[in-house]
Amino acid sequence: MDTPMPMSSPVHRRGFSLIATAVLAASLSACGGSAPPAEETTRNPAVGMAKIGLIVPLSGVYSSLGIDMQNGFDLYLDQHAGRLGGKDVELKVVDEGEGPQTGVPAATKLIKEDKVAAVVGIVNSATAMGVRDTFIDSKTPLIIANAGADGVTGTNGSPYIWRTSFTNGTVGASLGAEVSKQVGDGSVYLISADYSAGKEMIGGFKKAFEAAGGKVAGESYTPFGTTKDFQPYLDTIKASGAKAVFCFYAGAEAVSFVKQYAQFGLAGDLPLFGTGFVTEGGALDAEGISAEGTQTSLHYTDLIDTPKNKKFVADYQAAFNARPTVYAVQAYDAAAVLDAALARPGTADGRGIARALGEIGPIDSPRGSWGFGRKHDPVQPYYLRKVEKRGGRFVNTLVRELTRAKAPDL
Ligand code: PHB
Repeated sequence: MDTPMPMSSPVHRRGFSLIATAVLAASLSACGGSAPPAEETTRNPAVGMAKIGLIVPLSGVYSSLGIDMQNGFDLYLDQHAGRLGGKDVELKVVDEGEGPQTGVPAATKLIKEDKVAAVVGIVNSATAMGVRDTFIDSKTPLIIANAGADGVTGTNGSPYIWRTSFTNGTVGASLGAEVSKQVGDGSVYLISADYSAGKEMIGGFKKAFEAAGGKVAGESYTPFGTTKDFQPYLDTIKASGAKAVFCFYAGAEAVSFVKQYAQFGLAGDLPLFGTGFVTEGGALDAEGISAEGTQTSLHYTDLIDTPKNKKFVADYQAAFNARPTVYAVQAYDAAAVLDAALARPGTADGRGIARALGEIGPIDSPRGSWGFGRKHDPVQPYYLRKVEKRGGRFVNTLVRELTRAKAPDL
């Protein structure tokens, strides 16, 4: 039961910077990707250069997430004349692939061979844990634009590790009390991809859900990246007597899970809840009516009704002929963070950039204003979202704010 996922790939990628385009062409051909034709560079010697690495999945179950992130980063550059902190950006793009086996060597190449000043990206929590020490040891700042592994910024926080996305436990926890309230006396079944991100999201949810009086009917973890047939797990859920389900899936796995959840008749009986990744972007487009009514929590929906987000959505749509996702916003904000840091004095090396990252103020983002907390994770609200049909397509409506977190200096 393999459900291919149409990716929210751009119809065209705008030439945000001739320098970045040329370097991107070279780095993609070096890692075997299909490269756009190299163009002449228009380097301006007066403004200086910043060599930045971008590591996102361009292959595997999370490839659509990687494309969204690359689009978000490109859009920011496009809107800022291809510069960050006033410097022309030389962008090196590498493929993170599906996990640490591909992601760790790709990140190591950016640091050791390309000698980039800073790196943005990383989708997979296991990859983030695998590369963490390499960044710290080489004093290369890493701005994680998705992977939520709690321990990456955890108790042993490092000046070199920053994150513009979320922590797995927090995003899971944000829905706990709400599900407990909605399900009342009934119990909830927990299911997720079997790797650290899923376990942490389920763990965060479970803690908050049980603290609010919720009861767990059972838990299943499905082999990551290889599960095509969810029926055995769905049978177990049916037999458990649960009144609802909470899940973590993303990308192509989310599409397979949500479609089969509807096909095997669970959608009508057991309301589906999850972290918002399960109905995000290209995944929701592919899930369509199967996802209707699914309730999720996340720190973004493209329907946030602010001038900043409306402009972002319009610009993104004009550039890529697709609606932006949380992945695009996280990478867009990583570019904004680097822009602010590189504009500060003394940022010629990794140590200076890391120091400057600690000095920047709140980020005025499409998701709303947010800032780094003590451990370098975003301090931000989480929203309850519900999949509904609007204007002929399925969207994540913003129901209400679930948790309001504000940094003291925001
Ligand atoms: C993760 O591995 O941390 C991860 C991957 C995909 C998501 C969210 C988190 O959508």
